[in-house]
Amino acid sequence: MADRTNERYLTFALGKGRLANQTLKLFEQIGITCEEMKDKETRRLIFVNEELKLRFFLAKGPDVPTYVEYGAADIGVVGEDTILEEGRNIYEVLDLGFGKCRMCVCGPESAKELLRHHEQIRVASKYPRIAKHHFYDKKQQTVEIIKLNGSIELAPIVGLSEVIVDIVETGSTLRENGLEVLEEVCPLSARMVVNQVSMKMENERITKLITDLKQVIHKEKTCVY
Ligand code: PRP
Repeated sequence: MADRTNERYLTFALGKGRLANQTLKLFEQIGITCEEMKDKETRRLIFVNEELKLRFFLAKGPDVPTYVEYGAADIGVVGEDTILEEGRNIYEVLDLGFGKCRMCVCGPESAKELLRHHEQIRVASKYPRIAKHHFYDKKQQTVEIIKLNGSIELAPIVGLSEVIVDIVETGSTLRENGLEVLEEVCPLSARMVVNQVSMKMENERITKLITDLKQVIHKEKTCVY
């Protein structure tokens, strides 16, 4: 076993919730475990694997790129939506292949015409930066963007906006509320991000981690049951 006496801890920031659970499952497949984290009752915020010199903490998704940019975490796992929205100076190194969904422009069918004719419409979103990039830079369409913090599908229903820019996974929230996908912005999934200095200083350990993860992800992709 490698002598890790003089190694410093590598710190991971994981986006709370489903992504964190899936990340831990993936890490287990390459021999990285953190038993302490499995205790659902615990109120502890940081978990340590002494043997491998690793530390893990859970954070709100949008805070993960912040911890990584400032070096408070060497590595982060978070959705591509959050990475795009936060626009931090970090390296995006790996698509983890889970948490797949799409960022879309959605609304009632009637809004299709407004989009087609580049009308000055209102767009509600939890992701104003992504919405702005889509409409202003990609489509060259001037719109008014309204930032919301959740339940975005409400906006066109109650008349706050004509359309929304939001995550679509199964599409059931849209269907149950009489809305539909009008334009696709980009596909999304969970990504691993790395602090720019850590990538240089801890290159060997981080590169090995990426290589090991890639192998498992590739195996899962090509495995036919
Ligand atoms: C997300 C997203 C949609 C929904 C899409 O919301 O904003 O509302 O999931 O999933 P579906 O296509 O499978 O229905 P989330 O549950 O994260 O809560 P939020 O509305 O507070 O953002």
